[in-house]
Amino acid sequence: MATIDKTQQDAEKLTAALAAVKFVKDGDVVGLGTGSTTTFAIKELGKRVKEGLQITAAASSIRTEELAKSFGIQILDLGSLSTIDVSIDGADEFTETLDLIKGGGGALFREKIIASLSKNAIIITDASKKVKKLGAFTVPIEVIPLAYQYVFDQVTELSGRGQLRSVAHKPFITDNGNLIIDADFGLIDHPAKLASDLNQINGLLAHGLFINLTSKVIMSEGTDIIVFE
Ligand code: A5P
Repeated sequence: MATIDKTQQDAEKLTAALAAVKFVKDGDVVGLGTGSTTTFAIKELGKRVKEGLQITAAASSIRTEELAKSFGIQILDLGSLSTIDVSIDGADEFTETLDLIKGGGGALFREKIIASLSKNAIIITDASKKVKKLGAFTVPIEVIPLAYQYVFDQVTELSGRGQLRSVAHKPFITDNGNLIIDADFGLIDHPAKLASDLNQINGLLAHGLFINLTSKVIMSEGTDIIVFE
């Protein structure tokens, strides 16, 4: 596997973030994703808010909410919103057909709600996230704790090799108080079919396959910006 230069990668994340922020206008309700790429966008939005841009925002995680507030961005209750004008979020993998894997940071459930509400759901990435087929990155699955073993077994039935996500030898707990199973399905030939099969599992709150939820991906490669839509 090719090594990725972190400085180069951060420069690409910043370039993509700056390009996405240009889509935000006065009066917009903005959906804010989670992760290192989105952090560049939140910082830029904070700068623009200080310069007079008037927006409100919905956050996909507690850490994004805290970050946005620290930059003076007003946060709304996600559960009270019927629509979001524009959202900016990262991805763990994407294809040219705008299928994504998300949830590496564990915020997939709220990220999916934000993407579902967004009129313009923008994904920003560095060049390392583009793949021909999804699946080298495992699919995060958020599961309600009392359904853990049931969901794990159902994922196995779908040929997914699951692993409970843990941090420092303890189960990772999401902002919603749930567990994450990271499931390896190998390279995924039919992501929409797998997404639909996963959607049928009771007790599975959300999975990281984002299908038909993205308006455009803004990817930076070197100093170039490439938009997939
Ligand atoms: C968070 O749960 C994820 O969906 C992130 O959007 C994804 O992991 C991308 O994160 P980075 O921007 O840090 O790569």
